[in-house]
Amino acid sequence: MKKLRVLIVGAAFSADLHADAYSRILDKVEIAGICDKDMARVRALAARYGFEGFAEYDDYAAAIAACECDLVDVCMPNFLHRDVAVLALERGRDVVCEKPLATTVEDAQEMVDTARRVGKRIYYAEDWLFAPAFLRAQEIVASGKLGKPLYIRARECHSGSHSPFAQLLKYCGGGCMVHLGVHPVGFMLALKNNAWKELVAMTSGGKEHNLIHSRMEGEDWAGAFIRFEDGTYATLEANYVTVGGMEDVMDIYCEQGCVHVDLSHTGPVRAFSIPGLDYTVEKAEITTGWSTPAVDEKYSLGYCGEINHFVDCALRGEDAKVGLRGVDGLETLKVINLIYKSAREGIRIGNEAPKD
Ligand SMILES: NC(=O)c1ccc[n+]([C@@H]2O[C@H](COP(=O)([O-])OP(=O)(O)OC[C@H]3O[C@@H](n4cnc5c(N)ncnc54)[C@H](O)[C@@H]3O)[C@@H](O)[C@H]2O)c1
Repeated sequence: MKKLRVLIVGAAFSADLHADAYSRILDKVEIAGICDKDMARVRALAARYGFEGFAEYDDYAAAIAACECDLVDVCMPNFLHRDVAVLALERGRDVVCEKPLATTVEDAQEMVDTARRVGKRIYYAEDWLFAPAFLRAQEIVASGKLGKPLYIRARECHSGSHSPFAQLLKYCGGGCMVHLGVHPVGFMLALKNNAWKELVAMTSGGKEHNLIHSRMEGEDWAGAFIRFEDGTYATLEANYVTVGGMEDVMDIYCEQGCVHVDLSHTGPVRAFSIPGLDYTVEKAEITTGWSTPAVDEKYSLGYCGEINHFVDCALRGEDAKVGLRGVDGLETLKVINLIYKSAREGIRIGNEAPKD
């Protein structure tokens, strides 16, 4: 079987999540190249997952020009997504792009337009759509045994991004809503096929108007209420003021039942350590005392399912499922920008945009 040749661009945190997923499916994937301006990261990533025989690059334009590959996986800071993706698409490659699709709607639109023009695909990396526990919750709802869904509450929160690029709006496009809220927003839009009706939102204001992160230009607290065309309501939240590890939580209330999912703080393993464990869950500040160490965290957060889906789609020359296409990343970013507008101007916003 022909293997899909992948060039990974960026070799930090999200590249590690993707590399782990590729390393589990080497029967259908070959890592053709890895690029980062920090070559030590390239080598460390490859060593961690045992990748061999790949080309190393420290410049993404040179990498895209030189690397013989089928798919370029964009694991770069937000402000570089557009540049890397457009170069890769123009070179005839399919693209996996980390969230958010870009820092501005204009850049995201250009990416989607370029993909259409050259006949290639953008796979938008929304891992929530593959988290096994979220899939199980959707299966339960789809069984009809809870009745019609009425209200969904979802959030991703932690204590702050590790990335230096998350501090300035020009590098990242916003605060916690664009970094973390992008997951619940993207998930809900996928669930409702992008058919939202109206929204209203509030955020902390950035810098001195933030709750904690006074040097960060983006907001460190954000909440949005959204009503969908089918009448479902949702409360979607993101914040950087949550200590104790990342929270990925969803509650679905239906006419005859409900389902609650907590991806990060539940699990079959409980441990107690006086000196502290090496690792428990993403973004946990301390690991002493009682904890619930994650079991195969990268799998349970959805990264393995996501990458596997993209590889299968690229091998078949197909678009991804709803929620995971370039247009879905674009719609998610549009909604997030409207959330910011609503919060800034104190207004309720209706969806007047034509459906794609
Ligand atoms: N889906 C998720 O759960 C998730 C989690 C974390 C990050 N992300 C996303 O992944 C993307 C990358 O974030 P990150 O936290 O992995 O890392 P990051 O933003 O800190 O940087 C990524 C890497 O890019 C390299 N880089 C920066 N500029 C470069 C250039 N001009 N040429 C070559 N290399 C360059 C850096 O050296 C770094 O190793 C972001 O868009 C972020 O939103 C997604």
